[in-house]
Amino acid sequence: MNPNILQGVDLHLIIADTYIDFTSFINSISLSLDLAEACALRDKIKKVDFDVSVPGFNVHKHNFTNHSKKTALVSLYIANKLNYDDIRLKNLYIAACSHDIGAVEAFTESHQDSSFIREHSEFGAQIIKKLPVDSSISEFIGFHHENWDGSGPDRLTGSNIPEESQIIHIADMFELIYDSEKPYWMQREHITAWIRSRQGRYFSPHITDAFMEACKPERFWLDMENISTNPDVLTRMHPPVQAPMSLNTIENIAVVFAAIIDKKSAFTHEHSIGLSHYAQLFSKYYGFDDDTTIKMKIAALLHDIGKLSIPNHILDKPGKLSAEEYTIIKSHTYYTKLILGNISGMQDISGWAASHHETLNGSGYPEGIGAEKLCHQSRIMAVCDIYQALTEARPYRDGMLKEKALGIMDSMVAVGNIDASVVKILKEII
Ligand SMILES: [Fe+2]
Ligand SMILES: [Fe+2]
Ligand SMILES: [Fe+2]
Repeated sequence: MNPNILQGVDLHLIIADTYIDFTSFINSISLSLDLAEACALRDKIKKVDFDVSVPGFNVHKHNFTNHSKKTALVSLYIANKLNYDDIRLKNLYIAACSHDIGAVEAFTESHQDSSFIREHSEFGAQIIKKLPVDSSISEFIGFHHENWDGSGPDRLTGSNIPEESQIIHIADMFELIYDSEKPYWMQREHITAWIRSRQGRYFSPHITDAFMEACKPERFWLDMENISTNPDVLTRMHPPVQAPMSLNTIENIAVVFAAIIDKKSAFTHEHSIGLSHYAQLFSKYYGFDDDTTIKMKIAALLHDIGKLSIPNHILDKPGKLSAEEYTIIKSHTYYTKLILGNISGMQDISGWAASHHETLNGSGYPEGIGAEKLCHQSRIMAVCDIYQALTEARPYRDGMLKEKALGIMDSMVAVGNIDASVVKILKEII
């Protein structure tokens, strides 16, 4: 394997028995971003200004599931026409998978709908800088909405726009116009005609030509039709980025994602970070080894990643949730498992993270598993989550004092929801 493929991955920190696969990690991250974007667009109905006069196109009705993966697929098709080597392909692939990483923050923080395009690109460029990937990727993401003629958010023109950004731009717009509900042969002509009509305005002339070449074969369109149901479609296109990642690297990435998750709702602005603090205290108390301790922290940091798929009008509702809203909010742990469960090497972490609302008496969610199937780490995670939630401030109430929170937790022990021995230790370590 070419060692340069692993730029930015701290191989020297790899812990022998822990192999977390980089590709499956990136794929899972892109799934979380797609879920977040899909729900944010529906939730806030931001006015996103795209000049897309294609029959039937409506960004607010677009199905964003797999938006990042499809953008990555089209980007790779174009790059192959430009004979990119493996290193450039790898960086383009990571950039395309995470090109809208700033969207969650931009949806939360944008004061004007019209500034969304600029802000999610800028936020994305800043966030990706904190991740252990090549520094060029930040630029690729920061300029993915620049137009060739200088009419984009940062007014960059022509070859001043990184070529990878130009590729992602065309792939991104293609994905937005592509209607996954229709067969490809019903839309192939008008999509390619629209892209051709923006050549030299939005899109670089030579990237447009490469795109036109890339989408000639039927396979391109059939891949678009099948990517949602068959992960092999993308796997066979992307460069050899199979690489182990250390737990320390994953923890650093998890800290960045915890901040994105916590920022999504005013209710939870330090929830995941707070949880990881208690997870660490428990790990120390129980004498967990270093690997297990870091895994506990990662599980705590990512336990609510599924909340990215829950609309803010439900997450931020100050009053009592309706039965329907409660059903929707409960699905967040299912999505946590969906996002983390496919990452090779993170099965135990995803199990501990996703069972934080399971109970010993089987009344929890999403699986309703009871004591028999709830391991020690999952029981700790549930206790940490409840204590952190009770003691943190909400917009409509202050955080509870320790005694009151522990009183509530005692009553939860009494009805068989949480583990008495773990609550006993909580009282000792806080
Ligand atoms: Fe974007
Ligand atoms: Fe996008
Ligand atoms: Fe939760």
